[in-house]
Amino acid sequence: MCERIEDLRRKFRLIYIDPPFLSGTSYSLKTRSKDEKDAAGKVEDTPTYNDKWEGVSDYLSFMKPRLGMMRSLLTENGSLWVHLDWHVSHYVKILLDDIFGYTNFVNEIVWKRTNSPKAQSRGFGAQHDVILLYAFNSQQFKLNQVFRNHDEKSLKPYSYEDARGKYRLIEIEAQGIQRTESRRQFEWRGRTAPYLYRIETLDKWWEEDLIYRSRNGRYTKKQYLTDTLGVPVSDLWFDIPPVQGGSVEYTGFLTQKPEALLERVIQSATDQGDVVGDFFAGTGTTAVVAQRLNRKWLLCEEVESTVEIIRQRIQKMDLPVEYAFSSFQRAGHKAKRLRKHV
Ligand SMILES: C[S@@+](CC[C@H](N)C(=O)[O-])C[C@H]1O[C@@H](n2cnc3c(N)ncnc32)[C@H](O)[C@@H]1O
Repeated sequence: MCERIEDLRRKFRLIYIDPPFLSGTSYSLKTRSKDEKDAAGKVEDTPTYNDKWEGVSDYLSFMKPRLGMMRSLLTENGSLWVHLDWHVSHYVKILLDDIFGYTNFVNEIVWKRTNSPKAQSRGFGAQHDVILLYAFNSQQFKLNQVFRNHDEKSLKPYSYEDARGKYRLIEIEAQGIQRTESRRQFEWRGRTAPYLYRIETLDKWWEEDLIYRSRNGRYTKKQYLTDTLGVPVSDLWFDIPPVQGGSVEYTGFLTQKPEALLERVIQSATDQGDVVGDFFAGTGTTAVVAQRLNRKWLLCEEVESTVEIIRQRIQKMDLPVEYAFSSFQRAGHKAKRLRKHV
């Protein structure tokens, strides 16, 4: 990451990181034995990274210069997404407020990462991770709207049906606090009301048979299920399951993140052709998804065995991928850099 840092300044539309977070754990890679005599397929453990620190300040002094450096790599409309959990997210929020400025904080996303939290001797079982999202400049930053699939609850309002399919009714008159005295009322098709839309718009919807008239003469608009892209995503991400042991994407790396999670991050924060960075790459989920979504990418990872997994994941993709791996050593710090057309 530091090899040609000057050339990389202001190049990244998105940096997503999922760094160590003071979990106090040493992680390993679990792989099935290749020994053919071992029919049961013994599981081999290869040590990977050590998330042990001398305390919070030791951890924060590791993170601080790296976060500052990452900010300098972002484009004017770029953003940094930092994936953490309860161990350090509050401390890192304060660091990031300092580095980015409090007003450039955009969201704290809560990802429900498991359905079965471990029982705790004290307190509640932890079930979620946190992603802190900062814009380089919140005035220039805009998320692409992303949608999640409908579920039983969100489908409930679609209880009406006609020849065009299932639909729900949405208000076209001001409701509650929208109903201010200054809001102009006007008469439309026999009903005077504080309409939210102009007469031309209402007439257009009428002609398209999108207006529903109730028995008491009140109008609402029909929204057909087939016209919706799903439910707009909020800062609560409860619909993306963790990587399961038997799934196609599973690599045996305990802290591997699901491709669906990175898909949401990358689609929200970038457009095709943009450059995406991940400097704590692990198994390279960010590269796999960025590649599939037609983004350029650059990754850093310090553990040889995980770099090998990234290499295999990239090679497995049925796409004409061009990429390069490089390694460098600086001030006793060894890291591997992986890139694609940056
Ligand atoms: C939580 S894992 C990332 C998992 C990744 N998001 C995935 O989906 O596989 C954190 C990674 O950061 C790497 N790492 C730790 N310190 C690093 C450093 N100083 N430079 C580069 N990578 C580092 C670890 O080896 C580990 O693979």
